[in-house]
Amino acid sequence: MNLIPVGVLGTGRHVPERILTNQDLEKMVDTNDEWIRTRTGMRERRIARPDEAASDLSVPAAQEALKRAGITAADLDLIIVATVTPDMAFPSTACILQEKLGAKKAAAYDLSAACTGFIYGLANASNFIALGTYKYALIVGVEVLSKITDYTDRNTCVLFGDGAGAVVLGAVPEGHGFQSFELGADGAGGELLKLEGGGSRNPSSPASIEQKLHYLYMAGAEVFKFAVRVMGSAAEEALRKAGLTKEDIDLLVPHQANIRIIQSALHRLHVPEEKCMINLDRYGNVGAASIPMALAEAAETGRVKEGDRIVMVGFGAGLTWGASVLVW
Ligand code: UT7
Repeated sequence: MNLIPVGVLGTGRHVPERILTNQDLEKMVDTNDEWIRTRTGMRERRIARPDEAASDLSVPAAQEALKRAGITAADLDLIIVATVTPDMAFPSTACILQEKLGAKKAAAYDLSAACTGFIYGLANASNFIALGTYKYALIVGVEVLSKITDYTDRNTCVLFGDGAGAVVLGAVPEGHGFQSFELGADGAGGELLKLEGGGSRNPSSPASIEQKLHYLYMAGAEVFKFAVRVMGSAAEEALRKAGLTKEDIDLLVPHQANIRIIQSALHRLHVPEEKCMINLDRYGNVGAASIPMALAEAAETGRVKEGDRIVMVGFGAGLTWGASVLVW
């Protein structure tokens, strides 16, 4: 069977207006700008309004991606939203977005792979297009992590922010587009990063609120070790599957969880920092939105040119990881 080459036709991103700086956080918990900058690389992050939900952030990002792709919402065959902070448990944020965009003929579903969700979503959608099932797909990575963050817990509240990134996928010329995907999961690490409340194990109740189960929990140091290991290995495996080597990387677009995690991946892959998109200083860790936001910024600011080999790599709760090689 002949597969259709699939690539990115357009990108978009959107963040809420409100900025939460390290100095603001100093007034909220026992922390300081120096600790946050040296331990994480972060300076500020964006925070949604109380009335702003995932679909609200997704709309402008999606519209920008559609515009850059030169298509309209009515052309979309598929919408996948990767998020751990959907508007609500159901209907899916993808269905809410479908309605808001007017993407009448698009199938729509959410995908749960935490910060790796965007890479999982790309792999999902590109298969539909490669097989000729669908022509155009919209993949959105969006998070409103501020709504599940405990702003009395300094271990987590300095890290997370809100935002959305979107791409439109479609057919591209031979030799361009996605060259490989490497996806993985290790459910044994599920306890390290989780939000327990509001599901069928611990439905929302006064007791679940009392126990703070509606906030995300993270064993930071353990996740850090996992991330350092898996970022390098996932990227290497994606390169191997694409028949490429580390030397072929023109731009690395990593999940923006911690500058030290990114630096260790750069070291392992022998990639200099100028060949890496870094935006965590301005946005913090935006979960599933972090890779598409960084990719959109790279596209907008001329960091990528036609034929460049981009490696996207991420990890997250699950535990999950994923990487992809994309020729621009
Ligand atoms: O995208 C999803 C995945 N999330 C991540 O990738 C996060 C991965 N983990 C990390 O990025 C890092 O583990 C953190 C940034 C969360 C923490 O950095 P760390 O170097 O692992 O610090 P630590 O947890 O070992 O804590 C070191 C010290 C502790 O104090 P003691 O026990 O040594 O006295 C913490 O209590 O730093 C303290 N600490 C803080 N101090 C000031 C923790 N958070 C803060 C803070 N401000 N915000």
